Amino acid sequence: MSTPLHQDPRLDQAASTDESLLAAHDKLLGKQPDEKGRYKLPPLHLLFFFSGLIFFAGTYLNRYSGMFDPRVYNENTLPPSGETVVAKLDPLVLGKKQYDAICITCHQANGLGLPGAFPPLAASEWVSGSDDRLIRLVVYGMTGPMTVKGVLYSAAPMPTIGKVANSQYNLSDDKVAAVLTYIRHEWGNTGAPITTDQVAAVRSKEGDRKPYVEAELLKLN
Ligand code: HEC
Repeated sequence: MSTPLHQDPRLDQAASTDESLLAAHDKLLGKQPDEKGRYKLPPLHLLFFFSGLIFFAGTYLNRYSGMFDPRVYNENTLPPSGETVVAKLDPLVLGKKQYDAICITCHQANGLGLPGAFPPLAASEWVSGSDDRLIRLVVYGMTGPMTVKGVLYSAAPMPTIGKVANSQYNLSDDKVAAVLTYIRHEWGNTGAPITTDQVAAVRSKEGDRKPYVEAELLKLN
């Protein structure tokens, strides 16, 4: 007697579910795991982009943050009492810088000038004397003979130093004031400091004019 129909093994295959068939096929095909479901490293160019951004931001803050000082960010903040808002350069430091850059060639480091050519600034009555003369002769320069400490000088002119027409140096008022304050303080000289306002006042009064001669200066007090 043949096997009953419901026991035929060939019917087993037909009886398997769709899912089990799919799973069996996946296994046979050796299908790879789902790539999209896995974490991937971000692309390298993004790394460069953000590193660049952080570097730029750091440099920017370093340069422009003003140390996050309230005086930088809040215009209503008052500076702590006793502190000047603008740091002022010591006129003697600024003055020495101008002297070493310009005047030293003729009047020398020791302020004694060169006999027969450049008059001395040390113990000169022109340096310690009238403010108005001193400012004018340096801002506008001087020509012709002049007497300094009883000695006549006529070999060369004193160049035009200030910010005026035909100036060889175009020195700003604060620098002129500083260099005059400096020469009044060096080599045993004594004399009141010259202020920027004094120099500015002389310039606005005299305008653009030619260098002085001794007689014109002696008329001033
Ligand atoms: C190119 C040379 C030269 C330079 C640079 C020069 N001077 Fe003179 N200075 C002279 C001469 C020359 C005289 C005399 C002018 C005359 O005889 O008319 C003089 C006169 C003076 C005087 C009046 C006379 C005295 O000895 O007291 C003063 C003050 C003075 N110079 C200051 C300065 C200062 C400050 C500077 C720099 C900012 C300067 N000079 C740069 C050549 C120079």
